Amino acid sequence: MTRIVYVNGEYLEEQDAKISVFDRGFLFADGVYEVSPVLNGKLVENEGHLARLQRSLGELNMKSPASTSEIEAIQNEVIKRNGVKEGIIYLQVSRGAADRDFPFPTDIEPSLVMFTQQMNLLDNPKAAKGTTIITVPDIRWQRRDIKTVALLAQAMAKQAAKDAGADDAWMVEDGVVTEGSSNNAFIVTQEGKLITRDLSNKILHGITRRSILEIARREGIEVEERAFTPEEAYEAVEAFTTSASTFAMPVIKIDDRILSNGAPGELTSKIRKLYIEMAMQSVAD
Ligand code: PDD
Repeated sequence: MTRIVYVNGEYLEEQDAKISVFDRGFLFADGVYEVSPVLNGKLVENEGHLARLQRSLGELNMKSPASTSEIEAIQNEVIKRNGVKEGIIYLQVSRGAADRDFPFPTDIEPSLVMFTQQMNLLDNPKAAKGTTIITVPDIRWQRRDIKTVALLAQAMAKQAAKDAGADDAWMVEDGVVTEGSSNNAFIVTQEGKLITRDLSNKILHGITRRSILEIARREGIEVEERAFTPEEAYEAVEAFTTSASTFAMPVIKIDDRILSNGAPGELTSKIRKLYIEMAMQSVAD
């Protein structure tokens, strides 16, 4: 399969899509990214993703390669050229190419890259079965609120999960869960409360997380945004994760504790269904 990839103003066959070896994204992980879902050939929750992109750029004093509406127009063009009906579009901005030197160079142009991935977001088999999680130490830097491409710690966490025969990892720092390796972590307590980590520089401010919390509150579910320990998660009646590429994804096992009898929990399934309904409504013809 060959895709059309966007690189700095050009739509190229993927084998022709190239970036300089001096690009600071490559040399210093000096770049930020966003992943937006695509359903019915249209972007879902993209406003939130592009607002967060601008925030990430601002926090790193990085120039935006284009305005938000220009970026969205390019995203739509890449989706169209690749005929993607369901999947994700990835976009990355890096500070640009310059001789290797640590401080931020002035007068360089940021680079913008986009590509798509076809995926089954709606009928994801993992959503029907549920996922298994291990806990790992959170060894990341302190600005996890910035969506940077410095993802080696997360790649190590996912690899540790894979080596342990699990689907994913939740990262733990100071005795409490921060978030999943590429998602936000939620538990449902015995009393039916939905718990997820509060917003700070300790976690990424998930766009899906925000919508799921809105949906939960609208449904009259009690929500607490606070830290929780792995031990509290072991005692939870349900757990799930949220991200742009998985929506609300049930968790059925954390370390060696089986949750909700080893099947996706009722509340989790309801929340996933309501999120998908909201997303589908937003992309209806
Ligand atoms: N990851 N936390 C982390 C560390 C993430 O990498 C992500 C997203 C999230 C969820 O954020 P959102 O709901 O805005 O997608 C939370 C993307 C999907 C990725 O890296 O592929």
